[in-house]
Amino acid sequence: MNSDSSPYPDCGPQSLPPSRMAPLGMLLLMASCFTFCLSRENPKEFALTKPKKSSTKETERKETKAEEELDTGVLEVFHPTHEWQALRPGQAVPAGSHVRLNLQTGAREAKLQYKDKFQNNLKGLKKGKRLDINTNTYTSQDLKSALAKLKEGAEMESSKEDKARQAEVKRLFRPIEELKKDFDELNVVIETDMQIMVRLITKFNSSSSSLEEKIAALFDLEYYVHQMDNAQDLLSFGGLQVVINGLNSTEPLVKEYAAFVLGAAFSSNPKVQVEAIEGGALQKLLVILATEQPLTVKKKVLFALCSLLRHFPYAQQQFLKLGGLQVLRTLVQEKDTEVLAVRVVTLLYDLVTEKMFAEEEAELTQDTSPEKLQQYRQVHLLPGLREQGWCEITTHLLALPEHDAREKVLQTLGALLATCRDQYRQDPELSRMLAGLQAEYQALATLELQDGEHEGYFQELLGSITRLLKELR
Ligand SMILES: *[C@@H]1O[C@H](CO)[C@@H](O)[C@H](O)[C@H]1NC(C)=O
Ligand SMILES: *[C@@H]1O[C@H](CO)[C@@H](O)[C@H](O)[C@H]1NC(C)=O
Repeated sequence: MNSDSSPYPDCGPQSLPPSRMAPLGMLLLMASCFTFCLSRENPKEFALTKPKKSSTKETERKETKAEEELDTGVLEVFHPTHEWQALRPGQAVPAGSHVRLNLQTGAREAKLQYKDKFQNNLKGLKKGKRLDINTNTYTSQDLKSALAKLKEGAEMESSKEDKARQAEVKRLFRPIEELKKDFDELNVVIETDMQIMVRLITKFNSSSSSLEEKIAALFDLEYYVHQMDNAQDLLSFGGLQVVINGLNSTEPLVKEYAAFVLGAAFSSNPKVQVEAIEGGALQKLLVILATEQPLTVKKKVLFALCSLLRHFPYAQQQFLKLGGLQVLRTLVQEKDTEVLAVRVVTLLYDLVTEKMFAEEEAELTQDTSPEKLQQYRQVHLLPGLREQGWCEITTHLLALPEHDAREKVLQTLGALLATCRDQYRQDPELSRMLAGLQAEYQALATLELQDGEHEGYFQELLGSITRLLKELR
């Protein structure tokens, strides 16, 4: 189960976010993206794109772990071989690499491409055609100064240190002068994020696009909608509805990638969440989860559902009204869906604690009737969970072998304790399993302590087990 390759294990905000690059890093990235685009299959689609100029909007960017990683400004370089290898977000691709989208795994992959083939690709591009550079990664100011530098034919900084770096750059990437010539020849066109999204939606919405083109359009779109203002712009021209309707497709891949885009667009973005509810997204997501579909589709759809429900009590109410809990129950009781089961339980745990926190917060701030709290009070989640057998379902998941799955299940058992106490107490299987786990983690915690670790993971797990056993006595 740990071999699960989905990039979205949970439904917290996930992204492949924008970040600033130092000028050198940026030129590197431009060089690499340049190649990246040239080596893509369809030269007609290229666009040199420019991120939206905005300082206030920058502060609205969703904060995510991935963003923090990229913000360190360290540009990670991908080392291509003659085999296809998966690319990680933010990795720079050296010149001459061939990049493709793997439809099975959803990953971008790259490998070495022979130089003459690369040059031929370049010749295939005509003047005025666009170049797709992944510019969400720099500000427009960065981009302008980079282009200015290219125009002047300016060399990079020439201190000793930089010379060494430059030599390294030349080794890995094409010389800047060569790049500049290419840019001139291509008569590069600058495109805004909005224009790109319109182009991608048009491509996806067009009946003359092939399945592969549609999936590629969704895949690219997902990158843009991580940015909050981009996701909101998607509303302005009806793009969100087009993606929501994509959930109706008969093609599993279209459903999967539409859900992938929606999950990113909903994430911590109330305006988009509200529109999605109005656009019928919740029903469509539940229909997919309730019907027979490939596991990969259900994974992404569950991710989109999480994103839609989190921090949005109105959607949670609708979810309960539409029978969402029954749908999830059926889902976790299917065969071979343990991966999904743990995610479902985690979602339920998140929803239970979210409501608790809203109530605690209102108490602390002495705010007796904030609108949001009123909304949370109408989410009757716990009674629904008990009535529909979630106390037992959660208990059974404790049998999963992975530590992190057990951790999630233990957390959830704790959160459901007040609701499920009677059932838990009457369940001899639960006490037996907890006792078994207690012994197992006792041993692991002892090893941790011997290693000098005093707040270790296994000690923590042991602590939750011991607390549960005490409560159930
Ligand atoms: C998508 O296609 C439909 C039917 O061809 C059309 O009515 C609609 O306006 C299109 N939507 C967008 C946002 O392009
Ligand atoms: C999508 O499918 C649902 C039923 O699953 C149907 O009610 C709805 O009208 C369909 N919408 C579109 C845009 O085809």
